[in-house]
Amino acid sequence: MRSVNIGLIGLGTVGGGVARLISTHHDKYLEHYGIDLNLKRACSRDDAEAKRLGLAEGVFTFDWKDVVEDPEIDIVVELIGGDHPATEIFEEAFKNGKHVVSANKALLGRHVEHLASLAAQNGVQIRCEAAAAGGIPVVHALEHDLVGNEILTIAGIMNGTTNYILSRMQHEGLSFDEVLSAAQAAGYAEADPTADVDGFDAASKIAILSSIGFQTRVTTDDVYMQGIRNVSAVDIKMAQEFGYTIKLLAIARNTPEGIDVRVHPTMIPNTHQLASVDGAMNAVFVVGDAVGETMFYGAGAGSFPTASAVVGDIMALADPIAKGGAPMPEQEPFGHNLAIRPIDD
Ligand code: HSE
Repeated sequence: MRSVNIGLIGLGTVGGGVARLISTHHDKYLEHYGIDLNLKRACSRDDAEAKRLGLAEGVFTFDWKDVVEDPEIDIVVELIGGDHPATEIFEEAFKNGKHVVSANKALLGRHVEHLASLAAQNGVQIRCEAAAAGGIPVVHALEHDLVGNEILTIAGIMNGTTNYILSRMQHEGLSFDEVLSAAQAAGYAEADPTADVDGFDAASKIAILSSIGFQTRVTTDDVYMQGIRNVSAVDIKMAQEFGYTIKLLAIARNTPEGIDVRVHPTMIPNTHQLASVDGAMNAVFVVGDAVGETMFYGAGAGSFPTASAVVGDIMALADPIAKGGAPMPEQEPFGHNLAIRPIDD
C-alpha cells in the first residue's frame, strides 16, 4: 500500500473544504478503506486560506504548474472554475498521466467531449460529481447504479440561488428584485447573478448529467434556456391558487425525436416532491425504464457538501492507486448513441 498524492488547485470555499475534509478524516480513510491521502501540493492566487489551514512547509504554491508537473502527484483537483487556466490545467495534468477531479460545470458543460477524449487518450480519468448538484451523488448514480436502465428523464432543481429567490418570493410575497438584492447583501447570491438567474448554471449541470445519463454529448449550447428574471410575485401567487409551485427546472427527456434539454421556470403540481424543495436546496428526479422514479435531494453548493462530492471522486480514483497501481478501468468517452433535439421554443 502506498500514499496517494493529491494536488489541489483552488483554495476557495470548496477547496478549503476539501483540504479540511481530507485532514479531518485522514485516519478514517486509512483505517476503513486502506487509503492514505496526502495533500502534497495546494495552489491558490493568495495564501490566506493556506495560512488558516496551517499547511506544512513546501505544500503551498502560487503556481499551478508546480502541481501538474510534480511527478509524484497522482490526482489533480481543479477547483478554480472559469476557462483559463482551468483548460490548461486539465490538458497538462492529462499529459503528465494524472487523473483530474473537477467541479468546473461551466467548462465541462461546454467542452466535456474534448476533455473526456483527451483523458481517455492519456489513460486517465475525469471525475466531476461536484459539478452537477454539488453534494448530491447523482453523477455516480447515473454512471454506475442506474446503468441497467434506459434513462427516460432527468429533471430537477439544480440551482440553489434561484430556488432560494423563488422560495422567498412565494413565502413572503416579495418581488424578484427585492429578494435578489437581499440575497446579494447576505452573500447568498453573486454580485453578478447572471449565471444563476438566467439559467446558465443549471444548463451546464443538465448538460453534464444528460451526457452521462443518455451516453451522448450534450453541451450547454444544446440547452434551451430561460431564467427567472421575468417571474413576478403575481405569477407565483396565481400558480399557488391553482395548486402549483413555480420552480426553475432543468429538464432532459429522451423523446422519439432525440434528447430534449431545457431550463425554464416551470409550474409544478404541489403534490409533486419537487414542489416542496425549499430554499437553496437542490433535488434531481431521474426516471429509468426499470427503476421507475427516483429522487436525489441535498445541498447543491457550500463548502463541505461540495467537498463531500470532490472527496468521493478522489477516493474512487485513489483506491486502485493505493492498492499498488492496479490499472483504472477505462473510462469510455461519451457516446453518440442518441441524437440531440435542436432547440425549438
Ligand atoms: N451558484 C450555484 C447555485 C452554486 O446557486 O446553485 C453551485 O453551482
